[in-house]
Amino acid sequence: MFALQEIATSDKAALYEELVNQARGLLHGETDRIANAANFASLVWHAVPDINWCGFYFFDGTELVVGPFQGKPACVRIALGRGVCGTAAVTRETQLVEDVHAFAGHIACDAASRSEVVVPLVKQGRLIGVWDVDSPLPARFDAADRQGMEALSQVFLDSLV
Ligand code: SME
Repeated sequence: MFALQEIATSDKAALYEELVNQARGLLHGETDRIANAANFASLVWHAVPDINWCGFYFFDGTELVVGPFQGKPACVRIALGRGVCGTAAVTRETQLVEDVHAFAGHIACDAASRSEVVVPLVKQGRLIGVWDVDSPLPARFDAADRQGMEALSQVFLDSLV
């Protein structure tokens, strides 16, 4: 059984360092993409404060399709280049959106979302999908969150064959 550890810190770098270690342990020895994505989303959901959605969109060869997540039911398909997720997928660069209302083309799945960070998932040059985290607070995510979410996403990518 995997016991979720309380991460008692207000230091973001320390929180993500601890979370990366926990994610490595949680995904260790398993390569199934759905299983690892589901556990990964649950881990982040329970450890990261002030978020209202976190989860995966996987690239099916044509568009992004929602994968394992935590939070309210979400839009199922997102075209490449659309919204924050589609932009992250096309540019292959993390999108840090302080105010989703100011992002042209933002797709509102949960009206409560105010800020968002989306990390593209690329393995050996191939687009796997994106990792998306939403917050009900404006400007909830900063450079430390970007770095932390990118490091976490790498743990997920490393778990895949
Ligand atoms: N806001 C995202 C859509 C996905 S939901 O946030 C879960 C976007 O603009 O791509």
